[in-house]
Amino acid sequence: MKNGMRNSAEVQLRTALRTLKRPLIGISAISCLGNVLMLTGPIFMMLVYNKVLSSKSIPTLAALSLLALLLYAFYGLLEGLRGKLMARVGITFDHKLAPTLFEATLKLPLHFGPHARNHDPLQDLASIRNYLMGPGPVALLDLPWMPIYFAILLLINPVLFFAAGAGALFLVILSLINEFATKGHVKAATQVHTATMTLLLDARRNSEAAAAMSMGDDLCKRWGSGYVNAISHARDLADHASVFGAISKTVRHVLQSAMLALGAYLVIEAQMSPGAMIASSVILARALTPIDLVIGNWRSTSAALQALRRLRALSSKLPKAVQQQHGMPRPHHTLSVRDVAIVPPGGSVATVSGVSFEIEAGDALGIIGPSGCGKSTLVRALVGAWPTARGEVRFDNALIGQYSPDALAESIGHLPQSIELFDGTIAENIARFRKGATAEQVIEAAKMAGVHDMILTFPLGYDTPVGEGGTTLSGGQRQRIGLARALFGNPFLVVLDEPNSNLDPLGEQSLNDAIHQMRQAGKIVVIVAHRPSAIFAANKILSVRSGRAEMFGPKEQVLAALFPRIGQPHKPSQAVSPQTGGGTPVIQPGQTVASDPAAGSSSPSVGPATATVTSLDATRAQRSNGHVS
Ligand SMILES: Nc1ncnc2c1ncn2[C@@H]1O[C@H](COP(=O)(O)OP(=O)(O)OP(=O)(O)O)[C@@H](O)[C@H]1O
Ligand SMILES: [Mg+2]
Repeated sequence: MKNGMRNSAEVQLRTALRTLKRPLIGISAISCLGNVLMLTGPIFMMLVYNKVLSSKSIPTLAALSLLALLLYAFYGLLEGLRGKLMARVGITFDHKLAPTLFEATLKLPLHFGPHARNHDPLQDLASIRNYLMGPGPVALLDLPWMPIYFAILLLINPVLFFAAGAGALFLVILSLINEFATKGHVKAATQVHTATMTLLLDARRNSEAAAAMSMGDDLCKRWGSGYVNAISHARDLADHASVFGAISKTVRHVLQSAMLALGAYLVIEAQMSPGAMIASSVILARALTPIDLVIGNWRSTSAALQALRRLRALSSKLPKAVQQQHGMPRPHHTLSVRDVAIVPPGGSVATVSGVSFEIEAGDALGIIGPSGCGKSTLVRALVGAWPTARGEVRFDNALIGQYSPDALAESIGHLPQSIELFDGTIAENIARFRKGATAEQVIEAAKMAGVHDMILTFPLGYDTPVGEGGTTLSGGQRQRIGLARALFGNPFLVVLDEPNSNLDPLGEQSLNDAIHQMRQAGKIVVIVAHRPSAIFAANKILSVRSGRAEMFGPKEQVLAALFPRIGQPHKPSQAVSPQTGGGTPVIQPGQTVASDPAAGSSSPSVGPATATVTSLDATRAQRSNGHVS
């Protein structure tokens, strides 16, 4: 068994940036050749002025023209090639990072909680890709050749060199001021845009509630204020761009004419030839072109740099590579939770702490407790969706983090409390969109969840599209298909969070049958429940209160201890054993506890807790025909 490190987003980003190096060196070489070829124009002009006009030789003119034409054609080819290569560089960079960043995007809420909306790595990747495919990087690659043109100007005449240098410096300072002035606007515009998009997506997802309660106007006002803010930043940016663009263009034209005037003066003073005057004007134009392009593309350059900075910051905040054991056998025996504390993503306070228990193959654990006590939080850690702040979750003695994601995907099935299906067919959803899933596997999961017959009643059967979030199905249908998805592939651990909240009696029957089958097959099932019928098939109970495990043990005994008869108020300290491990009171098998309410109690129900037991009893009575309990 060998250890392996999973590539983190940080490593992937570094690798992707490294892969840019070689193509960029190649493209720089092309730029070098292109810039040398661009000297064709000035040299041609100088030769025409100085040689052809003085010698009046038509054959020389024809030969020079032909040579210039060939060199220009070659230059055109190189320019085309450079553009194509840059486009491929952008796409390769995107391809290298897109899967990692998609995965990171999926996990953003799990790492950053409510702050997740501040990150949009795929959008950042798109802006870097678009930048790489545009003219910005080409202009940057041309910049290093500027000194060559200036050196030629220096050779022609030092006065021209200093004049051109001053002009170029002025343009560079202008672009730096531009960057400084617009930086804040770019950042603010991005943040406001992200916030308005989040609101829009929320509103779209909750369109039913918004329509039913006529929330449209108020939501529009809320969205509108952010939108107006985003637009005003965009307007400020456009204002800056037009002012700086106009100034730099004007300076550029002034510089061009000033150089010609200066050249003419130097020709009059007999300090250089008329050919050199024309050539220097062309060389200056060529030298300033990359500056012009860099200034013109500064917004996209700056946006791409900010996007890269954000990606770097995000990837450094994401969890580091986890050491995983490759070739680990799939878990088969136990699930142990030891002194676990869980802090919700983006939060700072543990909402679950000190929970310990161990269950083994064939067990079905019911987790009960009042609303907000931490049941869903706990099961999120059991399936590895949320990390533990303290303590550990182990399958067969190996830490959950030691299993590879593929091994966990095969070993865990989860039906979350808010069942959301993905836009696709029923079969695709049950198969978790896994490539290579067979129809037999999908049908097997559906049959186990007891939804096969229900699915066949749809005109398109398993190929029925469920719509965005599964909205074309009813709540109960969604929940039952979600159950089939959790059971797909016969996982070792199936965690069901309020699996019967939308189910009718038939659905509940199928659910309990599925749990029964899972237990028989030596799997572990964890069921979070409010309604007692959901824990009917459980054989163990963990009761949670205020984020702490209140009691854990065989179902009958825990229920009896939690809901004693009237007149025999339960005192947990008398009914349970001393705390073990992380502090969960454990009822020992055979230990005497308050009597089982199922054993013929005729207690009237008073208060919510007793009412729960009473309805549990009723359910039991209805189903007294032989389920595992
Ligand atoms: N993403 C989150 N960020 C911050 N706090 C959270 C988050 N999710 C849950 N909480 C808090 O953790 C506590 C436990 O929530 P949890 O969803 O686990 O309760 P629960 O027992 O499943 O309740 P219910 O029975 O209503 O589903 C609650 O106080 C809740 O406000
Ligand atoms: Mg919950």
